[in-house]
Amino acid sequence: MITKKQFQKIYIESIQNPEKFWADVAETSIEWFKKWDKVFEWKFPSYKWFVGGKLNVAYNCLDRHVKAGLREKTALIYLNENNDRITINYNNLLKQVNKFANGLKSLGVKKGDRVLIYMPLVIEQVVAMLACARIGAIHSVVFAGFSANALRERAEDLKAKVVITASWTMRRGEKKILKSTVREAVKNLEFVKNIIVLNRDKKEINSAEKMEIDFYDLLNNESEICEPEIMNSEDPLFVLYTSGSTGKPKGVVHTAGGFLVYAHYTLKTVFDIKPDDVFWCTADPGWITGHSYVTYGPLSNGLTVVIMEGVPDYPKPDNWYRIIEQEKVNIFYTSPTAIRMFRKYGEGYCKQHDLSSLKILGTVGEPINPEVWKWYHEFIGNKKCPIVDTWWQTETGGHMIVTLPGLLEKPGVAGLPFYGIEAVVVNKSGQEVPTNEKGFLVIKKPWPGALLDCWNTPDRFAKYWNEIGKMFFTGDFAIKDKDGYIQILGRSDDVINVSGHRIGTAEVENALVSFAGVVEAGVISKPDELKGERLKAFLVLKSGVKGDNALISNIKKHVKTKIATIAVPDEIEFVLSLPKTRSGKIMRRVLKAKELGQSISDLTTLED
Ligand code: WT7
Repeated sequence: MITKKQFQKIYIESIQNPEKFWADVAETSIEWFKKWDKVFEWKFPSYKWFVGGKLNVAYNCLDRHVKAGLREKTALIYLNENNDRITINYNNLLKQVNKFANGLKSLGVKKGDRVLIYMPLVIEQVVAMLACARIGAIHSVVFAGFSANALRERAEDLKAKVVITASWTMRRGEKKILKSTVREAVKNLEFVKNIIVLNRDKKEINSAEKMEIDFYDLLNNESEICEPEIMNSEDPLFVLYTSGSTGKPKGVVHTAGGFLVYAHYTLKTVFDIKPDDVFWCTADPGWITGHSYVTYGPLSNGLTVVIMEGVPDYPKPDNWYRIIEQEKVNIFYTSPTAIRMFRKYGEGYCKQHDLSSLKILGTVGEPINPEVWKWYHEFIGNKKCPIVDTWWQTETGGHMIVTLPGLLEKPGVAGLPFYGIEAVVVNKSGQEVPTNEKGFLVIKKPWPGALLDCWNTPDRFAKYWNEIGKMFFTGDFAIKDKDGYIQILGRSDDVINVSGHRIGTAEVENALVSFAGVVEAGVISKPDELKGERLKAFLVLKSGVKGDNALISNIKKHVKTKIATIAVPDEIEFVLSLPKTRSGKIMRRVLKAKELGQSISDLTTLED
């Protein structure tokens, strides 16, 4: 816990001398094989952190804890819908990672090669990520809900050498097959040399496909020792795809040094970590939260981390509370969409369980409604746990705007810029707007967790810094109040936030127009009680095509195969034409204003 005075003192120091601040943090957070020569180098728009520094991320998450005497400490607790429970301690996790890393090497995977991970949230997924980090291969985790088509697109963009998957994942008591999706995704991609399959019940390897290898066949033959690759601070650690305003997802690149320092330090500070804390972040490593706050942040801090495969409310709506009680979770970090669902089920379920182990609660992904915040505080936090609302993005690598535990909480308002972060609310030309006025949220200078690049598309990277006044453009609308607290008002661009997942309208529109009978598509978001926002698509059909229910269901299926279930519009309406600008751009805001019964002038000029 921190007082306002303490916070302000550190914040001011961090802004006055950011290089000294981050050098101190990097020194105390991470074990470096070689110290950096230069803390920060900025050749606009590119920047580097801890230049000349050498480290290994897996070493920092495992070896150094084992050396410090934490061999027996539980690193991961895996749970699932059947209440199976598997734990692994730091020493055994290190051994598994080393064996698997050696296995990857035996397949010819080297530093800088790309490895796709398309797995459920199981211990082996974390092993796969850390094994890549150990040998310097760049991993790209793809959420196991994405389609073969989306997976293929990523494999092609990265020229991935290996894909790691599992036979299936479990959702709502049903097995969802992953292996066949991967086979379809990589068909005839000559650069993909192997598929490694975690066979979960019986070993099923398609022997016709010489490229397939069983996860444990590969791992078991290998030595427990694998020297960590000495990485440069600014070497890429991973690429994670996220949606932007064009039709193609962008590969956000994060570095070994800057990212690890930032994930480590934000986790420790924002959740006021004590060494024996049991930490549970409910995200999947398919998203950035699962990288920073399931894997790298908590493990580099030597915590015990809970992971769970499955959905929150199956087999019963009290599933998560039961786990909090059973594992004595101290820090619980989830999304507003999940909290809204629990609130709908009612507090009766919380009251059936002892949640007194909880000390701090967190929320991320979208603005939390004050009512939902209060419910979280009262019924899950028993009125005694601070709630940290954490605003950040795939691109930022870690928390950027937060209410640190101990500071004044304003339900629904994310909070204050974190140490070292200068966040301002500006108009289009980059001037700060007056207090309590809506504007664009931008960050003045790079921070260690900032993305290094966009894979293969440096112009997309440069765009972040060239959109408004050479500052980092977040894409969000916000307002700052008289205390400097920043409230996030949602996206200003063509990105929609469904259940905390980022979806690009253009991406969905592309998928829709690739359906045979569809000529044009315009996608907007509508408020949704549970999901925050949901998608509605307006479609113009080819003449002669009948817009009936059968067509709607086929179109939905098509989007599912093109992208993922999360991108499927909830509503589809057929129209004769779409409103457009003179240059032919679809005016989504006009569609939206009409749909929500607002006049077009209700939309602020910012949204022009
Ligand atoms: C977008 C980033 C960062 C991990 C999860 C999402 C929205 C995120 C908050 C918050 C209000 C939030 C923003 C942001 N967002 N956290 N605490 N309050 N809005 O990562 O997929 O990159 O999405 O999520 O709109 O731009 P992402």
